[in-house]
Amino acid sequence: MNVIIVKDYEEASQKAFEIMVEQVKSNPNSALGLATGSTPLRLYELMREDHKKNGTTYKGIRTFNLDEYYGLAPTHPQSYHYFMCHNLFDELDIDMNNVHVPKGEGSIEEETEAYNKLLEENPIDLQLLGIGSNGHIGFNEPGTSFDSTTHYIQLKESTIQDNARLFFNGNIDEVPTHAVTMGIKNILQAKKVLLIACGENKAIAVKGMVEDEKNVELPASALQDHDDVTLIIDEAAASLLTKK
Ligand code: F6R
Repeated sequence: MNVIIVKDYEEASQKAFEIMVEQVKSNPNSALGLATGSTPLRLYELMREDHKKNGTTYKGIRTFNLDEYYGLAPTHPQSYHYFMCHNLFDELDIDMNNVHVPKGEGSIEEETEAYNKLLEENPIDLQLLGIGSNGHIGFNEPGTSFDSTTHYIQLKESTIQDNARLFFNGNIDEVPTHAVTMGIKNILQAKKVLLIACGENKAIAVKGMVEDEKNVELPASALQDHDDVTLIIDEAAASLLTKK
């Protein structure tokens, strides 16, 4: 793992932006795996600004999001589909036919099968990740097999609380209890992985991911098996690392 420790969220976002734009420019037909949540918000803002100012084009880019809440239509303001359009796609020149977010409605079996097929046909060049305070990546909660592919999952209470704090106007009853997520195996199949972790509440998960023995109770520790992972961590999230 290539661990880059930076001062704060702004610096982490700038570094991640450099890597993302390098990927897009060096291969304008890249398949990008994308994340939602609060972590990539500034990165997405930098990508929108750069597209507007410098004309970086996304016309040939294909995107594949990690996850979606189950039970929310793509038009629901708290759905991850809506989040991606609002925070990124609407202001890029991306072809919306090339944008993929798992469906959080309808037959779970059909959707998970279709998404796995899509990922097989479109190997991901760069997978962007955040990390949950409990160590989840995508919505692969503690206990998820490292061999998992796209699946339906029940969210842990701590994830529901974290997400209610940041989204859903703090209303825990509105946070869906289930989601559809790429599995850990899908994530590990990406050619490169870029994970951003910022803030004190990520410090325990970051330590587990980097320094503890790989184990299913800390899903992000599966990344130890990948040979091209860049972790961009701010000082607060890196505070429990012993080998800096
Ligand atoms: C989002 C996702 C999640 C988040 C994680 C951190 O698509 O897959 O794993 O990256 O929950 O969320 P934030 O960034 O809000 O702390």
